Amino acid sequence: MPIDINDLNHIRPEATFYMPEGFLWGTATSSHQVEGGNNNNNWSLWENNDGHILNGDRSGDACQWWQGRWAEDFDRASESSQNAHRLSIEWSRVQPAIDQWDMEALAYYREMLKGLYDRGITPMVTLHHFSDPIWLYENGGWEWDKAPQVFEAYVRRVVEALKDYVSLWVPINEPNVYVYMGYMDSNFPPAKPGMAFAFNVMENMLKAHAAAYRAIHEIQKEARVGSCINYRAFWPKRPWLPLDKWMAGTLSHNYNDAFIGAIQNGQLQFLLRKSSLPQVKDTQDFVGINYYTADWIAFNPFMIKAFFHTREFPQGQELSETGFLANVPDGLFKALKWASRFGLPIMVTENGIEDSQDSLRPQYIVEHLQQLWRASNYNWQIKGYFHWSLVDNFEWDRGWTQRFGLWGLDIETQERIRRPSVDLYAAICKQNGLSTRLVEQYAPQVFERLYPVE
Ligand code: BGC
Repeated sequence: MPIDINDLNHIRPEATFYMPEGFLWGTATSSHQVEGGNNNNNWSLWENNDGHILNGDRSGDACQWWQGRWAEDFDRASESSQNAHRLSIEWSRVQPAIDQWDMEALAYYREMLKGLYDRGITPMVTLHHFSDPIWLYENGGWEWDKAPQVFEAYVRRVVEALKDYVSLWVPINEPNVYVYMGYMDSNFPPAKPGMAFAFNVMENMLKAHAAAYRAIHEIQKEARVGSCINYRAFWPKRPWLPLDKWMAGTLSHNYNDAFIGAIQNGQLQFLLRKSSLPQVKDTQDFVGINYYTADWIAFNPFMIKAFFHTREFPQGQELSETGFLANVPDGLFKALKWASRFGLPIMVTENGIEDSQDSLRPQYIVEHLQQLWRASNYNWQIKGYFHWSLVDNFEWDRGWTQRFGLWGLDIETQERIRRPSVDLYAAICKQNGLSTRLVEQYAPQVFERLYPVE
């Protein structure tokens, strides 16, 4: 029978969304969350106080990377076709006291990075991922006016020691989360809410970022140094209402724009205050985006303590296991579009979902990667994607209650549990793209959403 070309119903599309050649496919981790035995930083103090961490959990042995288990986890990454990994250096290990450097700790990190190199995995190294040495904390942490200076000294030591194996650097992970959680909410140490503190810390982190940028380039010509913020997609709940739009824009400015905006133009505008930081201008070679979820924002004159708004997850979106995140893939597109304004290469430095049963993760992965591919078709220079995370790890104030790993972790036995998403992500990394076959196999429920026939 001749085929009716107007009737497309019988056609099952077959296609692969390829990413550009040389794309970095990896996972991300951070020192305090995976190493174990970190007892000289502010989080170890924080965990010892009742009520700070859900269930009274502690990072404890974490994933035992400091006892050598990084090697087997890097094997897992390389056997599943990942070609990149983002990890962080624990400042309190390298500089246990203000006047003391631990060369053995640096040598151990060198061994880990060589471990990546030997497995053909490109490292990206974060120099500060939420945790601070106790000596810094006791001097006022990031409120201390010497914080940028002491950070620079630490960065110089680390880069000198590790430069043979690393050329992609991120000085500070998510300064916006650090400031919001520690100085506006009270979920992270030092739990000291106050707009003046928040502004001061943001300013010092910018100065530290810029000082690190220059120091790294001085030491290593070929270095690429990026910023890295947590991008949250805010949409007005009632798009026709100017006040909702204004509110969503104001939140987005303070949360998403402030840090990188200052790097772009040397002016920090944050929490109704301004300051001029010319030394910070143009201190990024790529823009790192950590994207997880999105909110609908509604103006509400009665929510005085919550800055006159309410927020909720966009209606109809699937929620993660503990309700912490909603699956909103087009928020990633919004984030990438936002990042494209800086005219620099873009890296998705984190993206993932907590899901011990792996029931939503495959769908979350394919839907977000489809948005990544969609964005790359605009020729925005997207160079890499790092899934959070390689293996379940210590989730800060939420302790062990949330499971973000491709591999699960039994914290009693240290056994790694292979979740189906391991194989899905491995196939994506291997073919440098997402195929209809994979979607059909791992997330058939979204096939038609991803490949509409009409
Ligand atoms: C942080 C990670 C954290 C992840 C999931 C990100 O904001 O950088 O350290 O584990 O969120 O909560």
